[in-house]
Amino acid sequence: MSHKTALVTGITGQDGSYLAELLLEKGYLVHGLVRRSSSFSTGRIDHLYQDPHERAPALRLHYGDLADGSRISTLLEAIQPDEVYHLAAQSHVRVSFDEPEFTGSTTGLGTTRLLEAIRMTGLPCRFYQASSSEMYGTTPPPQHESTPFHPRSPYAAAKTYAYWITRNYREAYGIHAVNGILFNHESPRRGETFVTRKIARAAARIARGEQQFLHLGNLEARRDWGYAPEYVDAMWRMLQREEPDDYVVATGTSYSVRDFLTLCFEHVGLDWERHVRFDERYLRPSEVPDLIGDSSKAARELGWTPTVLTPELAQIMTDAEVESPPALRGDVSTRPQEDSILTAQDQSPR
Ligand code: NAP
Ligand code: GDD
Repeated sequence: MSHKTALVTGITGQDGSYLAELLLEKGYLVHGLVRRSSSFSTGRIDHLYQDPHERAPALRLHYGDLADGSRISTLLEAIQPDEVYHLAAQSHVRVSFDEPEFTGSTTGLGTTRLLEAIRMTGLPCRFYQASSSEMYGTTPPPQHESTPFHPRSPYAAAKTYAYWITRNYREAYGIHAVNGILFNHESPRRGETFVTRKIARAAARIARGEQQFLHLGNLEARRDWGYAPEYVDAMWRMLQREEPDDYVVATGTSYSVRDFLTLCFEHVGLDWERHVRFDERYLRPSEVPDLIGDSSKAARELGWTPTVLTPELAQIMTDAEVESPPALRGDVSTRPQEDSILTAQDQSPR
């Protein structure tokens, strides 16, 4: 068992929740950064929570926001982590076109605020940056660690900035800082407005007679979809290496949104073509057409390989929607809409 201390930003998100589980299993003391909101946002990690009045818990949560550099410094000083996993971000690509400045400030500059806090405090901690395959944009697949970036959204541009600032702090100040360039990874805990969860959820709801139609945008986009619990293991492996480096994490396969629809709907005995309608609000002003990751470096140097590929992932996600009521998975929303982010004001994304 480890006696290390980790700080996880974005602990209330999909990846943060799986990473917290993994680190706690390994014996870490885990500190999580949680931004204050008017209602609880800890649904994905409530099963890990222990009452601090009863014993000193292995999971400790702290209020803080990526916008607040001084708070981040204070927390780092207090926590003295051995490892920092920086997962927090405005992570929705479509939303980044509506909120480009906010996305730049959180997803981009948020990384600088953390790295600068590490530099200023002089802590010898290791740093993981949640970089993204979105940075490759239109560069043709397969994409690997030296493939050129061509970001296609404010989100991707912010992640590309964060990627380079991470490398810069490694080269300039010798900080043990790594980029995990993760391709899409999904799970039953995926946010409801990402396309895989939206599809799996709608398939189950339509099968139960709770909704009739699912509205989607571009069905031709292709993604390399893996299984999130396996991807957080790759994050941990990166920080265990003596030499900091950057790694692609992916399955090496690609499926279209149309393929994912077929996988989920057929799993519940439905023909998706009878239920799916086009809504142009879900198109992006500039799209990423095709992502396929080459993670041979991660296999070679980290010993990491995926076992769950997209067809099994679609089954896992659809079964989860069929079997357990949303509340058990920490979902706040039981709204009938298939995508609750876009409102009437977002009529014209282009
Ligand atoms: P997610 O579910 O959207 O979680 C994002 C987390 O960031 C949440 O905990 C969120 O808090 C937190 N956050 C957002 N803005 C914040 C702020 N201003 N201050 C503090 N915390 C803030 O994302 P994910 O899928 O777990 O992804 C984790 C990271 O990996 C993200 O950086 C994402 O961009 C990146 N990534 C994801 C994928 C993927 O396929 N999932 C692939 C490549 C890279 P709330 O719960 O309060 O919203
Ligand atoms: N969200 C969404 N909603 N996407 C749709 C829809 C829809 O109704 N209809 C079609 N799509 C298409 C999008 O245009 C995109 O091409 C594809 O489905 C996947 O969209 P998302 O699930 O929103 O994910 P993403 O690929 O844009 O971004 C995710 O993966 C990145 C890694 O490549 C996010 O998790 C990012 O944070 C992450 O970096």
